[in-house]
Amino acid sequence: MLFRDKVVWITGASSGIGEALAYQFANQGAKLIISARREDELQRVKQNISSECLILTLDITDSTSLETAVNAAIKHYNKIDILVNNAGISQRSLVVDTQELVDRKIMEINYFGTINLTKRILPYMIANGGGQIAVISSIVGAMGFPLRSAYAASKHALHGFFETLQLELKPEHNIFITILCPGRIKTNISYNALNYDGSLYGKMDAGQEKGMSADICAQKILRAISQKKREVYIGGTDILLVYFKRYLPRLFYWIASRVKPT
Ligand SMILES: NC(=O)c1ccc[n+]([C@@H]2O[C@H](COP(=O)([O-])OP(=O)(O)OC[C@H]3O[C@@H](n4cnc5c(N)ncnc54)[C@H](OP(=O)(O)O)[C@@H]3O)[C@@H](O)[C@H]2O)c1
Repeated sequence: MLFRDKVVWITGASSGIGEALAYQFANQGAKLIISARREDELQRVKQNISSECLILTLDITDSTSLETAVNAAIKHYNKIDILVNNAGISQRSLVVDTQELVDRKIMEINYFGTINLTKRILPYMIANGGGQIAVISSIVGAMGFPLRSAYAASKHALHGFFETLQLELKPEHNIFITILCPGRIKTNISYNALNYDGSLYGKMDAGQEKGMSADICAQKILRAISQKKREVYIGGTDILLVYFKRYLPRLFYWIASRVKPT
């Protein structure tokens, strides 16, 4: 029971990685808060969880809904031990075609929504004597990738924010940040990805279909959080691209411009 009686708040828990995280944290003894926009899907997830589980429906881009949710969470549990910032959406469009509304929407959800919730919970963690904050970035938080300009930018921005937060926190705060960077994981992310004009891409990519299961990804995320790792890459051969970018940049540009991006 790695997380017995820890209060764990997971955003984006209505599907995919967040849903898998909810089940695994519950199996490890955690008390949950699960959030997303779709209440019916959160109810479905809750039905599969036997431990204490509070549903807080929210749109992460809406500050009022975040404030209401944070107040409700603190009223219910009196503390948050672990925040898992997982909610996010992706993109499937070339830079040359992508409308500004898509760039802004992806930044609003993946970046501004995430940091807004984090900043609201941080003072409670400090007052409570500690906590952990995890953020689900992506391997494209460490490199560019075709058809993912706004998505990659939003994930890079999360690295800048959370690395800075970790540096600002003092040992006496007892707060640890873990940045998780999955490669392709088989979830609905490509269904929910945005086209150049903000419409839904609406299909399962062949690459996504072959990705790691959300359950295995969630297992690795729990291990990283329990070990208080700073940054972890999760996936198959796709994560090699990160190391190529760092150590063999010419090889990275050669491969990444030829990999099928869908
Ligand atoms: N799958 C991959 O290959 C992969 C790889 C690297 C990183 N990631 C990251 O993993 C995270 C989870 O993605 P996933 O693959 O599990 O995709 P997913 O199945 O589409 O799940 C996305 C989750 O985010 C929630 N969400 C979206 N917009 C929201 C909003 N405005 N407010 C609140 N919640 C919102 C969705 O819930 P509602 O629709 O109910 O609001 C859903 O629960 C994302 O941050 C993604 O970038 C995924």
